[in-house]
Amino acid sequence: MKILVVGGGGREHALIQKLREDPRAETVYALPGNGGIGRDAVCAPIAATDIPGILAFAREKAVDFAVVAPDDSLAMGAVDALEAAGIPCFGPRQNAALIESSKAFAKELMKKYGIPTARFETFTEPDAALRYVQEQGAPIVVKADGLALGKGVTVAATVEEAQAAVRDCMEGGKFGAAGEKLVIEECLIGPEISVLALTDGETVVPMVSSMDHKRALDGDRGLNTGGMGTVAPNPYYTPQVAARCMEEIFLPTIRAMKAEGRPFKGCLYFGLMLTAEGPKVIEYNCRFGDPETQVVLPLLESSLLEIMLAVSQGRLSGTEVRFSGRSACCVVLASRGYPQHYEKGYPITLPETGPGEHIYIAGAAEKDGRLLTSGGRVLGAVAVAETLPEAIDRAYALADRIHFDNAFCRRDIGARALAALEG
Ligand code: AMP
Ligand code: GLY
Repeated sequence: MKILVVGGGGREHALIQKLREDPRAETVYALPGNGGIGRDAVCAPIAATDIPGILAFAREKAVDFAVVAPDDSLAMGAVDALEAAGIPCFGPRQNAALIESSKAFAKELMKKYGIPTARFETFTEPDAALRYVQEQGAPIVVKADGLALGKGVTVAATVEEAQAAVRDCMEGGKFGAAGEKLVIEECLIGPEISVLALTDGETVVPMVSSMDHKRALDGDRGLNTGGMGTVAPNPYYTPQVAARCMEEIFLPTIRAMKAEGRPFKGCLYFGLMLTAEGPKVIEYNCRFGDPETQVVLPLLESSLLEIMLAVSQGRLSGTEVRFSGRSACCVVLASRGYPQHYEKGYPITLPETGPGEHIYIAGAAEKDGRLLTSGGRVLGAVAVAETLPEAIDRAYALADRIHFDNAFCRRDIGARALAALEG
């Protein structure tokens, strides 16, 4: 089979390596891919948001199956366009991708179907939003409605901070059209859990749980980033919590989307918070998480290609999705200065990887046979082991064998998970 993967980050590198384990994956293309992905797939410089370009490429190469990974491609209707051309896809259509691309839609859905989430109001007028913040007091959370590169959320400790966030979005145009509508919600407290769930619109199969580390610096300080590391499984996701999530959140969400005429096919990412009242939804993403995918897929024993085909053909209920029961840790190596200003173009030295070790490249370009840094998050060093402490030690040992100038990583990935295990 000829498989097309749309996207070009560490998540896509992990997806491609896993897809290639199935002998049916004869050729894998990546649009645009990156220098590291280019060692595992045929890359072409077509942006993940260039829907006509993607379509033309898929037709020219007579692609058999497409996997669309990024949020913006999905929100722009990449799956609809490919399917209309007769190319089966893994990923939600545009009308279902709305669950991520409009936070107001997601919140209204949860309200209508009684899915537990933070109390909220939506606003299109700054004055009303500012008044609401004043009435509710802090802490409070301000969210731009649309896609904002993961930076549209302000967890405000004070009323002033929340009001500044409202003004930035609605008057300052900080997120463009994505910020014209706002969701303002109650601040929830508790550990966060990421669950990536496979669904064909009827059946939902949660994959192994994980924990992201979103802040740039140790101790969850510094700015929010796309994710500085992950561990799986997440120790807070006990069998009891999992059972509640299935009953109260996963199944109701899948049924709600179907009832709304927006059946969701693909990977639905549940960002959960385990509050004193039980698990609640912080956010939905309409896709695989990054860097959650980098720890979840190495633990998957079944064929990812077979699972994805089953999802696209609506036969997930009869398909095996088996995980190894081991643990994984991903340490992201980033360019110093990320998520703000950073320099690019430094040569990367990669070691040989041993069993249970993976290096997923997120931001690197190939030049004259060398990999050069080209992004904020450069790569993820991943290790799989019998236990979480071993996985963490091995991921750091791998990260320490990788070199490029100006590299930095958090040194405490997994620390909170270990504390929870010991607690
Ligand atoms: P998001 O961009 O939606 O992933 O949100 C970024 C982060 O903001 C989440 O991972 C949470 O840590 C935090 N967050 C979002 N909503 C809330 C909330 N209602 N209460 C507390 N923290 C939140
Ligand atoms: N790791 C969070 C995300 O993919 O949005």
